[in-house]
Amino acid sequence: MSDDDGWLDAGEVEQCAVGSGTEVVVADRIVALFRTADGWFAMNGTCPHHGGPLGKGRLDGCVVTCPWHGWRFDVRDGTYQHASQAKHPTFATRVVSGRVQIRLDES
Ligand code: FES
Repeated sequence: MSDDDGWLDAGEVEQCAVGSGTEVVVADRIVALFRTADGWFAMNGTCPHHGGPLGKGRLDGCVVTCPWHGWRFDVRDGTYQHASQAKHPTFATRVVSGRVQIRLDES
């Protein structure tokens, strides 16, 4: 579902407790979605190392650890924790009427 300004539905807010993440498919893209104490964040769900599922990784604060080989990323802006000049694509999020929405234009 999409409205006129490009926001896409990514599911209900109850899908994640604070401090956890999940994997969703939005417009045929795999998206890692995280609910932190600072709010909702979304990033490309495929790890740039060897394709691990970032939405199934462990979330510590605002850092997710890939479940396959342990690469770590700040979910707020995609910063690699082992190479701060590199960033994994992230997406804007918002919550409307109990639903999480994202925009797939990468930042
Ligand atoms: S696939 Fe994510 S760290 Fe290797």
